[in-house]
Amino acid sequence: MARKKEKTKKIRLQTPRGMKDILPEEYPLWQWFFEKSKKVLEYYGFSRIETPIIEKAELFLRGHGKESELVQKEMYAFKTKEEADWLVLRPEGTAPIARAYLEHGFFNLPQPVKLYYFGPFFRHERPQFGRYRQFYQLGYEILGGDQPILDAEVILIGKAILNEIGFKDKEIQIFLNSIGCSKCRKKYLKVLKKFYRSNIKKVCSECQLRYKKNPLRMLDCKSVKCQSIKEKAPSFLDFLCENCSNHFRQVLSYLDSLGIDYYLDKTLVRGLDYYTKTVIEFNIEAHNKELSVGGGGRYDELIKVLGRIDKPAVGMAFGVERILEIIKSRKIKIETEKPEIFLIQIGPRAKEEALKLLERFRKSNIPVSANLSKDNLKDQLKLADRLGVNYCLILGQQEINDGMIILKDMISGIQENLPLERIEEEIKKRLGARVIVKGSETSNN
Ligand code: HAM
Repeated sequence: MARKKEKTKKIRLQTPRGMKDILPEEYPLWQWFFEKSKKVLEYYGFSRIETPIIEKAELFLRGHGKESELVQKEMYAFKTKEEADWLVLRPEGTAPIARAYLEHGFFNLPQPVKLYYFGPFFRHERPQFGRYRQFYQLGYEILGGDQPILDAEVILIGKAILNEIGFKDKEIQIFLNSIGCSKCRKKYLKVLKKFYRSNIKKVCSECQLRYKKNPLRMLDCKSVKCQSIKEKAPSFLDFLCENCSNHFRQVLSYLDSLGIDYYLDKTLVRGLDYYTKTVIEFNIEAHNKELSVGGGGRYDELIKVLGRIDKPAVGMAFGVERILEIIKSRKIKIETEKPEIFLIQIGPRAKEEALKLLERFRKSNIPVSANLSKDNLKDQLKLADRLGVNYCLILGQQEINDGMIILKDMISGIQENLPLERIEEEIKKRLGARVIVKGSETSNN
């Protein structure tokens, strides 16, 4: 029987739509951003936490609501053979952190608990510049505290991180609003629905659906059709209950006393459905306003919804790609560590010795570069030149026989013969006892 010829479509192997590789030449920038942010967050008492990339779908169904746009449209959900539950690639970090806070009994620790995270998130959105299906966030959360000063601290830290990576105060735009608590929201939604009822035919089809399911999100609509109506919508700030109004006033008062500028934006509701009271958005001036670089707010009811423990919380997250795209477009110079020494080896015995030497240097915290696949002096000197090192170590058959190694000063061109046995000491002397440890310069005395 003739076998039916199977038609195989050749699939081009590349990253899935909306996802990108982080290439080696980009990585120092990512690392730089992470190190700068980490320094600010750890100064303010945050500890790092990482939750799994996969969570049970139920976490987001409960945390955001079944009808939320995140759950309805944006989650990557799947079932494996063994799992009875639906699993999802985490679309955001706050619900997983709230889950971890409950799961590990962090509510028994002195409150509030301050946590930060850095990792990939996944949303099935229409990809475009600045909007990806896999993107990284740097997020930080203060859990177990309801004081307005914590909202101000979250905002202050957001600004400090942007300052630390080179953005000036005047280009950092902070947008704020309050969307109240469940009590005052009921009252506001009535008024909002009444306003939109008379304009329902003028809004986009998406907003006509939102009108029934989640009218607050109508204020978040980006469609051109809805903009002029949105601007006339009543402001939540006029309908806040006394408690929410006092809370927001105090947040603003802290920011005023810190000299932090902000804009009040009555249409700011943020895309996620767990927010209460303060909502926050960070932008960089002259950058596409729709692509906020960071966002967050207070979520006083999320932990209760997930675990029946009443613990208010506040936090925010930065979109790392969006920030780094701005940094790249501005050609902001970042400080990266460059090696100061290049090890050149000539001949098979020197190659073997070079492997041992590199390991000795690593143990002594002396950063030395080498390319062991190269054999001749010229090629290796060229590499050293490209790296811009100050010294080259040269090891050949003769040097091994004599138990010596050549140290060449790349600026003066002067060469010295040094004993191989004590080379670490000699190098440290010449580097002025500076030894690089974990990216920071420390003295080795
Ligand atoms: P979010 O506003 O959905 O909030 O995202 C925070 C930031 O992540 C955005 O401002 C944006 O810079 C970046 N981002 C979001 N979606 C994408 C995407 N598709 N592509 C590229 N970047 C994106 C949250 O996720 C909350 N969990 C933040 C939070 C923390 N709220 C309280 N605590």
